[in-house]
Amino acid sequence: MTDNKMAIQLTSTHVIGIGRDRICYRHPSDPDFCIKLPKHREKQTRREKEYFLYLLKKGADLRYVATYMGDVETSLGTGALFPMIHDDHGEVSLTLTQVIQQGLMQRDQIEQGLERLYDYLVSNGICTRDISPNNIVCRRRGKQVDFILIDGVSSPNHNPLTIRIPALIRQAVNKSWRSLMTKVERLLQESEALGQSIFHPLQSSSFQI
Ligand SMILES: Nc1ncnc2c1ncn2[C@@H]1O[C@H](COP(=O)(O)OP(=O)(O)O)[C@@H](O)[C@H]1O
Ligand SMILES: [Mg+2]
Repeated sequence: MTDNKMAIQLTSTHVIGIGRDRICYRHPSDPDFCIKLPKHREKQTRREKEYFLYLLKKGADLRYVATYMGDVETSLGTGALFPMIHDDHGEVSLTLTQVIQQGLMQRDQIEQGLERLYDYLVSNGICTRDISPNNIVCRRRGKQVDFILIDGVSSPNHNPLTIRIPALIRQAVNKSWRSLMTKVERLLQESEALGQSIFHPLQSSSFQI
């Protein structure tokens, strides 16, 4: 907690998502931003921040990743500022987990979206670690759906070569992709078993990639 009167006042009403390590709040006065606060002691974030600074310096194309934008003081402590990924009308974009559980996209559309994200990461030399379907959001703009990585952009180890050599970058992305695909497959099968894969016709017209 902080007494600082200038601090951004956050309450539980601003929470938009809870991850394993962090709680994500909508910025109370700017809906284009969100603020992440560690649940416990700050762990992963330092390496993540350093890696984002590295990507910014090398001029990487960060179109499909939510980029760390600096620290901010809040009533709940120091938080990390990120762009909030939202759909056309300002609704927070759904995570891939929610999209699958709600049967909003077909399997082949999801596979295509993931393939596009994979190609983007590898061709732009962006390393990842620990990606799960909770770390990808599906941003709807008109009829277009883009998969955006909102967490998991990080150097996977302390070896400075990993983030610089294309073959090592690909290896890092491949590793996180294998565990991502296992989780996606499990969710798809659960959803199919529940009959969620029966595509909702109203949503199908507006939820295409
Ligand atoms: N930039 C963002 N735009 C929209 N929603 C987000 C964003 N970042 C996080 N979220 C939501 O908050 C949840 C937790 O954030 P995340 O950064 O994944 O925390 P953790 O590091 O604990 O996994 C996500 O699963 C997602 O639902
Ligand atoms: Mg996460």
